[in-house]
Amino acid sequence: DDLFGVKDCLIEVNPGKCILPPKYKDLGQRIKNMEVRSDDVWLVSYPRTGSTWAQEMVWCICNDLDFVKAKSMIGQLRTPLLELTALMGNDTSKLKDELGNSVEQVENMPSPRFIKTHLPVPLLPEQLAAVKPKIVYVTRNPKDMCVSYYHYCKLIHGLHGSFDEFCDLFIQGKTPIGPIWDHILGFWEQKDEPNVLFIKYEDMKKDLKGAIRQVATFLNKPLTDEQVSALEDHLSFNSMKKNPALNLEPILAMMEKQPSNGTNPDETFIRKGKVGDWKNYMSKELSDKFDKFTEENLKGTDLAFETN
Ligand code: A3P
Repeated sequence: DDLFGVKDCLIEVNPGKCILPPKYKDLGQRIKNMEVRSDDVWLVSYPRTGSTWAQEMVWCICNDLDFVKAKSMIGQLRTPLLELTALMGNDTSKLKDELGNSVEQVENMPSPRFIKTHLPVPLLPEQLAAVKPKIVYVTRNPKDMCVSYYHYCKLIHGLHGSFDEFCDLFIQGKTPIGPIWDHILGFWEQKDEPNVLFIKYEDMKKDLKGAIRQVATFLNKPLTDEQVSALEDHLSFNSMKKNPALNLEPILAMMEKQPSNGTNPDETFIRKGKVGDWKNYMSKELSDKFDKFTEENLKGTDLAFETN
């Protein structure tokens, strides 16, 4: 249980539903009680599902494709991760002072707010259900999600276990944030609500223009073909990887977590951007285990994932 280096860095909240650092205790109730505004746009996801990608799409669509601002103002300031302060735990770097309290930041943002969160349904603000702001939920096939999360946990949380050990934790729902299926199905159940759009990473990969149009229509901000093409360029993997407002490089530097020499793609936040990278990591046995894990949990739903 101490694969993350610090034995007590994670606590279970709402047992079985979410795993968060102890610092969450100070913020959880405040998040549940926070005011939700009808013109908020929320992006909800499990980590490593393409949240930054989808969130950037949402922000650009709602901000007249202001690519200058999108490249000069870091994502956390434009589209804050609500629970970031809790996730940073006892981080003592200057980043914490720089960003302040993430919940307070969201509370004080002028409208319309663009808010990102990895919290599952039971820990989200209670007012979401009544106020019904637009919510985009993004998800991804669990095999690639797990590979991507493994690298992220090594980079950010100091994970020192092997990939196979991490997979065990992931399947048991013991990675930070917790079990994936409660998270995903919590929003799959809401996918037909008019204020909810459920999208998959694999669909964005297959047809980014189509995804842009779908999200723009959902947000009542239709785009011309030219605008769709310009946004497609801005959202391309290479362009996002180079964008310091999104690639987390300035943030990693402030956290003093600058990877070895910056040449290993696995040590970057915007890492490979592929569907099917799991094949480079999983044995047949492990892959079968994931297929079973997925099949059992999706039984009785019409949700399915592409993994190739
Ligand atoms: P990989 O680690 O598989 O490359 P999140 O933002 O939810 O943490 O998700 C991160 C994942 O989305 C990473 O996956 C990252 O590379 C991928 N990603 C980010 N921007 C992307 C883009 N423009 N195109 C494709 N994938 C992207």
